[in-house]
Amino acid sequence: MVGGHIVADGSLANLEGLWYARNIKSLPFAMKAVDPTIVAGKTDWELSNMSTKEIMDLVEANGDKIDEIKAKSARGGKNLDKLGKWLVPQTKHYSWLKAADIIGIGLDQVIPVPVDSNYRMDINELEKIVRELASTETPILGIVGVVGSTEEGAVDGINEIAELVDCKINPNAVRTKKISFL
Ligand SMILES: Cc1ncc(COP(=O)(O)O)c(C=O)c1O
Repeated sequence: MVGGHIVADGSLANLEGLWYARNIKSLPFAMKAVDPTIVAGKTDWELSNMSTKEIMDLVEANGDKIDEIKAKSARGGKNLDKLGKWLVPQTKHYSWLKAADIIGIGLDQVIPVPVDSNYRMDINELEKIVRELASTETPILGIVGVVGSTEEGAVDGINEIAELVDCKINPNAVRTKKISFL
């Protein structure tokens, strides 16, 4: 996704980021509830792993049903338990937990990813967690890369995280599971 929105502070930015992810990732389930033919043949796992573009294209193509779709989405309080895990570096700012609480996905969905000796998110540990979740078909709502952590000013390897998102790391194992997250 390309774009941005400047907000008043970090906590609000985190809350807004998680809110966007929650809403977008709930749309496939909402479309299925409104008109199953929109996402015909997709399993829950496949619905959880549609890309943002795929989702938004379908929403656009079904603009006449947008109010019904919204009502059946996370914005209507639906399917919050199906959205999956939110992965953040172990050094996570407590605003992530507050955000998960406020938007209703629950604190249990936030998974801390171990950091390396430079306090950056350990990309190997991240990949391990992604694989473990995929092996049990547990969806990933999103992965957070921090550019300047609160205590250490550590900058996570955003490129490496993006590569993992693009399934460039060990493509076979990741691709076969068709994982997609924000
Ligand atoms: C990574 C991170 N997220 C969120 C926050 C919260 O920011 P604020 O205090 O502006 O709400 C901070 C604050 O230092 C931070 O470092």
